[in-house]
Amino acid sequence: SFFEIIYVGSQQEASTIIVNKLEEELKSGLSSLGLATGSTMIPIYNGIAESNLDFSQVTAFNLDEYIGLASTNKNSFAFFMNERLFSKKLFKETHIQNGIAEDKQLECERYEKKLDRHPIDIQFLGVGENGHIAFNEPGTSFDSLTHVASLTDSTIEVNSQYFDDHEHMPTQAYTMGIGSIMKAKKIILLAFGEKKRAAIDALLGNNITEQWPITVLKKHPHVTLITNIK
Ligand code: GLP
Repeated sequence: SFFEIIYVGSQQEASTIIVNKLEEELKSGLSSLGLATGSTMIPIYNGIAESNLDFSQVTAFNLDEYIGLASTNKNSFAFFMNERLFSKKLFKETHIQNGIAEDKQLECERYEKKLDRHPIDIQFLGVGENGHIAFNEPGTSFDSLTHVASLTDSTIEVNSQYFDDHEHMPTQAYTMGIGSIMKAKKIILLAFGEKKRAAIDALLGNNITEQWPITVLKKHPHVTLITNIK
């Protein structure tokens, strides 16, 4: 299997590397791209937006969405994606879970079926300080598919900084499961800054444990880690 680590000096450098990789992948027929939200992705989306990459034949899937937030809510991940990327780059289709779906179970099934119809060629991932990927918190089964996740206190604490009123921070989210993420053919994981060191140490250590969701990536056949954590 393939596990590559690319050490970069800056997130700007990471962005340039990713634009170049995507150019290659588009040439070889990239058709389904898995996208992530979070501050880690902002310089990457800026780099993509400024590039001349053409995604008009690419279907995009996002990892997760807060339950209770409509796409018009500025704290929703749908809003983030529209603002940061989709308003600047045309995609063939873009998919994200509907934060205000009436039937949550049905929404999960609908999303997983769509993923199965468009297997992801490249999945971008960030990582939470506690090792979560998407919103798969410690303890989540490695076999999990798209589901409703309850956020841990630490994730609520970290992410509530983006909400004007911390009370409005949702405590649940839709997320692709660890099993859904592992179906992607290639994974590009991004981690920057000291706050992510414990998670990267877990990934590069010997154990594979559901207590550190990121460690599942050791079982994936094709991972590229781009980081400034040495
Ligand atoms: C969120 C998202 C994750 C993301 C993580 C890190 O909780 N659900 O997909 O990877 O936080 O975010 P950041 O890039 O802001 O550190």
